[in-house]
Amino acid sequence: MSPPLLVLLSGPNLNLLGEREPAIYGREALDDHVATASAAAEASGLTLEHHQSNHEGELIELVHGARGRAAALIVNAGALTHYSWSLHDALASFDGPVIELHLSNPAAREPFRHLSVIAPVADGSIAGFGGLGYLLAVQAVARLLGVPAKGAS
Ligand code: DQA
Repeated sequence: MSPPLLVLLSGPNLNLLGEREPAIYGREALDDHVATASAAAEASGLTLEHHQSNHEGELIELVHGARGRAAALIVNAGALTHYSWSLHDALASFDGPVIELHLSNPAAREPFRHLSVIAPVADGSIAGFGGLGYLLAVQAVARLLGVPAKGAS
């Protein structure tokens, strides 16, 4: 049997991590965070697939493509978090754990970031821990799926 699939989705502007507003988002590139998540997934016997898109419709297609194929989703939707009801509806169609992830803590930033329209269709949210959030999100998925979450006791 093939290992359960975990899909990590990265939304708009996350391809610029490392260069973009480093005081807020840190100096690590998206590839560094994907490597963290992949290593954590592998340690729990999960296969990680990552996709980044700057396009709302493409992210929605990626959620559709994960349906029936992936066991869980981790989503850092970037600014789409705050207004994409289409992404909300797509995530609502996914049958499995959904973790909302942010590097920064949107609740402590500008008012427009205080609303997450994807939070109601996520099992939980991890925000404000920088790159550590990618490890925590995979550990949360492992726990929710009932597979061993290595490094978390
Ligand atoms: C972000 C927070 C969002 O408000 C912002 O638009 C991003 C990144 C984060 O990871 O902290 O692009 O999702």
